[in-house]
Order: sequence, then C-alpha cells, then structure tokens
Amino acid sequence: MHVSLENLSQDHRTIERVLDVMQQAAHELLASRPVDPSLLRQSVACLSDLLDGCHWRKEEEFLFPALLTARSFVEDRLIEELRADHVRVRRALSEVRAAFSRLDAGHPGGGWAVAVALAACYAPLRMHLHAEEQAAFALAQQVLGVEKLDQLAVTFGQIDAAQEHPDQWRALYERVTVNAETAKPRI
Ligand SMILES: [Fe+2]
Ligand SMILES: [Fe+2]
Repeated sequence: MHVSLENLSQDHRTIERVLDVMQQAAHELLASRPVDPSLLRQSVACLSDLLDGCHWRKEEEFLFPALLTARSFVEDRLIEELRADHVRVRRALSEVRAAFSRLDAGHPGGGWAVAVALAACYAPLRMHLHAEEQAAFALAQQVLGVEKLDQLAVTFGQIDAAQEHPDQWRALYERVTVNAETAKPRI
C-alpha cells in the first residue's frame, strides 16, 4: 500500500485503540461496574481532536476529492456514504458529550446513558473504518496514480506536523496501557 494510504491506516489503528477504551467502558457501565472517568473523558476528547483536526481533514479535504476527480458512479456513492458516516459519528460524539454533562448534573441513570451514547459512537465508527480500508483505500491505490498519492503523502505529513496537541495522545497511550492493571474509580 502507498505510504499516503498507510498514513491513514495508521490513524485508523490509533482510533481503534481509543474505541477499545470506549467499548470497554460502555460494557462496564452497563454491568454497573466502575470505570475510570477521566480516562474515558480524555479518550473521547482526544478522539474528537484526532478526527476533526487531523484524520477527517485528510479524507474530506484531500482523499475524497481526489477519488471524485477519478469520477464514476461507484465512487460517487462510496464517497457519499463515507461522508454521511462522518456526519453520523460527529453527531454521536456530541451525544456522548451531552451524556457526560447530564451525568455531571447528577441525572439518574447517567452512567447508563453514557454507555448507550458510547455504543452509538464506537459501533458505526468501527464499521466506517473497515469500509474505508476495504473499499476506499483499495480504490485509491488502484485509480489515483503514484504522482497524486505522493502529493497526498506530503499533505498528510503536513497535517500531522500541524496537530495542536500531539502530547495528549502520548499521555493517553500511557494511560490506556496501564489502565487494565489499575484500580478503576466509579464514574
Ligand atoms: Fe473516514
Ligand atoms: Fe478514515
């Protein structure tokens, strides 16, 4: 796979790691077991930053338009569906933030509502990542040509370098790694 597409796949692996945290937290909350509230909130905040500030910029501003330039009915439908997925996940992430606010305000069943909101976010996002890997990236490798893919690689590198909070990801990785072994205060 071209390095530009590997860059996007690497973002996906990072996103999946955060989704693992969200999924585990949702399962714990639904079973009325304690979770680490700050790890969960940091995971959601980092995921939003990565998607809107980095990964989705690469796709929405550069990859998708490049695919549409090599226009066909199949690509139009595919990109339309992938863009709609982004809208759905953005909406789901706002619901997660709203559920956190209701929990902070002491609403009864707040933990359960957070779990439901998390599930409505991580499940469709996992399917979206899979669809991109299987369809969009494979298509890009076939139709874009080396010159365009090289341009995308340079642009993606510039977007990565311009990220505002690279340290927060490093801190999150460390917390995710040790989280399974630590005590988990109740949310
Ligand atoms: Fe995407
Ligand atoms: Fe993606």
